[in-house]
Amino acid sequence: MIAKTLVALSLASVALSQSGPYGQCGGQGWTGPTTCESGWTCTYSNPYYSQCLPGSNTTPTSSTTTTGGGSSTGVPGSAPTVPPSTAVGKLPALGWNSWNAYRGDINEAKILAAANQFISLGLKTVGYQYVNIDDCWAKMGRDTNTKRIVPDPNKFPNGISGLATQIHALGLKIGIYSDAGTATCAGFPGSLGFESVDAATWGEWGIDYLKYDNCNVPGNWSDTGSPPGGDWYNSNSAIRYRQMTAALAAQSRPIQYAICNWGNANVWDWGGRVGHSWRMSGDSSATWSYITSIINTNLAHISSTKFGAHNDMDMMEIGNGNLTIQEQRSHFAAWVFLKSPILLGTDLSKLTTAQLAIIKNTELLAFHQDATVGTPAAPFKAYSTAPTTSPPEYYSGASSKGTHVFIINTSSSSATKQFTLSSVPGLGTSGNFKLHDMWTGADVSGTYAASASFSVSVAAHDTAAYLITKA
Ligand code: GAL
Repeated sequence: MIAKTLVALSLASVALSQSGPYGQCGGQGWTGPTTCESGWTCTYSNPYYSQCLPGSNTTPTSSTTTTGGGSSTGVPGSAPTVPPSTAVGKLPALGWNSWNAYRGDINEAKILAAANQFISLGLKTVGYQYVNIDDCWAKMGRDTNTKRIVPDPNKFPNGISGLATQIHALGLKIGIYSDAGTATCAGFPGSLGFESVDAATWGEWGIDYLKYDNCNVPGNWSDTGSPPGGDWYNSNSAIRYRQMTAALAAQSRPIQYAICNWGNANVWDWGGRVGHSWRMSGDSSATWSYITSIINTNLAHISSTKFGAHNDMDMMEIGNGNLTIQEQRSHFAAWVFLKSPILLGTDLSKLTTAQLAIIKNTELLAFHQDATVGTPAAPFKAYSTAPTTSPPEYYSGASSKGTHVFIINTSSSSATKQFTLSSVPGLGTSGNFKLHDMWTGADVSGTYAASASFSVSVAAHDTAAYLITKA
């Protein structure tokens, strides 16, 4: 038993020190592993992203740059100012994405299984909607005549359109992935210079959501310094993404548009004018340090999140790695109260009852999907001598139901947390209030005067969540 545990521990440490197939292995701000598992090589894509690709260390190649006839290597020119669709994307996306669960090892059966689990696990009932395919769905080369990206027939025997039909039949929506460069991070065709043909193809297939990545960007399309006039909306990065906004707008079906440029080019300043959400960092990991650091990153740009425009803290890690159940609760709660897209990222069939209870919590989901209040919760000072922590521990925000308080215990042991009711923005300095626990769905007994202090014991790395209304 002891020997077995030791073997498991040492395997786990190998897994932690090396990135797996298609995992991130470098890039500005990246603090994770910088080497790859055997058979995979850490391959530089650009200053922000290196990824474990099969075989030897070569720059990913793609026939797109030579066969396309588009402007992928041309000088940045057309800069459409078309805004993102208002028919979709008002609220942060709620769904699933294949990447954290399967990396490049995807196929129709796995995507369809996730869609069916939306139904069988009751996820659709509580609002999960998008079933999104990530990188590695295409053949390496475009169709030489039509210039279209071609789905890999071994992975998707019914094409993406056949899969879309099945997902739509379940009352769900389907997302696809591409890249605002010459190739995706894993080396499949990118859409730079092919925006119109690709958007038309996806529209025809019935695609509802596009995640648009940032690998393999030609030098003349990159940003080396501040853009003309200092507005990053006019940066080469933004112009690449704006071209896709315009191409999507030309389709008859609305397509939600998720920018994935890892927080480059001050994307929080222009993301809402170009798409519906934007990634703020390199790839997530199932670690407490990732969760706390991305909360801080989001807070630095919290004013950018509103209806139709959302800071994206990256896909969920619930069900992956070794996060404690309390850390998984905080992971979910933080994505909820900061209104990040929530795209589950695990094999849904393996979720435990406790994990399902987290992701199906209807009160937290109602805050995230509130149709009348679009602003996220924000930190507040809970009492006059409250210590400063990183990230902050106390957050408050409004919903159509009232005022909410969320408390993260950032310390690694259980602790008593407290706040004065009158310190919560919006509650005022008089009257009596009642508290309702959003996790258990039960009211807290008694009422609290504005001058009163509420205290609660919060487990290490857990998050408490309350709705507060007038008594
Ligand atoms: C990264 C992206 C990941 C995943 C991966 C696919 O750039 O951040 O979320 O999409 O590419 O290769």
